[in-house]
Amino acid sequence: MPLSIRQSAPAHEAGRGTVVFIHGFPFNGGMWAPQLRALPDGWRGLAPDLRGFGRTGVRSVPGPVPTGRRVGGRIARPNEPVLTMACLAADVAALIEQEVDGPAVVCGLSMGGYVAFELWRRHPDRVRALVLADTRAEADDDEGRENRLRAAHAARESGTRPLAAAMIPTLLAETTRKGMPEVVEQVRTMIVETVPGTIIAALAGMAARHDSTGELGGITVPTLVIAGEHDALTNPDGARAMADAIPDATFVEIPTAGHISNLENPAAFNGALAEFLDRLEPE
Ligand code: MLT
Repeated sequence: MPLSIRQSAPAHEAGRGTVVFIHGFPFNGGMWAPQLRALPDGWRGLAPDLRGFGRTGVRSVPGPVPTGRRVGGRIARPNEPVLTMACLAADVAALIEQEVDGPAVVCGLSMGGYVAFELWRRHPDRVRALVLADTRAEADDDEGRENRLRAAHAARESGTRPLAAAMIPTLLAETTRKGMPEVVEQVRTMIVETVPGTIIAALAGMAARHDSTGELGGITVPTLVIAGEHDALTNPDGARAMADAIPDATFVEIPTAGHISNLENPAAFNGALAEFLDRLEPE
């Protein structure tokens, strides 16, 4: 599936390498604008809109999954598609194959992190290093799946506006909500403009995702784990523990930020990313 991409520089300017940025839910590649603008010289950034999101569009969402035990359980109804993390990872692997000469640094935030884990598991040859931001290795528990069921019902019945209003207080730190109205507006717009069918399909896919906890010790590429100081969805202690379980990982907490740490404190996020990229062995 060809993905719509934003890029910071043409391929011939990627002398030191390429970073592929994978957005969270329910956002799009536009959330990585502050990172595409600030990548150090020699690095090229690619930020795709995943299947169903942003400009890649809803027609790219696959049809219903015709398996006996449907992936995504009760969240997607039998006539509704499911966007599995494996499907999203396969699209990103194909993008890397097409756009990058060799493996890429893969940076995923939240759902983008779930996709990054799946990419590492299924296509490790495409991954040079990992940045796991505001994400977690665990699968959903029962309560998490119930919450997704409720969110899918709300998106089906009432569309995306009420969903945006409900999500923003959990996604963004109080300081962001009070002091960064342009970030609040950007996040609201990304949620509102995502079509409900994609939201339901991705909720079902996330609920069915693989638990990567037992595989953290097998991540052999350099890894940067990032979490916003006030991330209410993936708290910094959990992210620090995840970094401890990965052999070559560094943990950085982003001050004043919530769950969307790259937008809430871009200077700190970009600083951590630049330092990490600087430490990578040349290809
Ligand atoms: C995200 O930001 O991608 C979501 O919080 C992920 C999730 O719902 O688990």
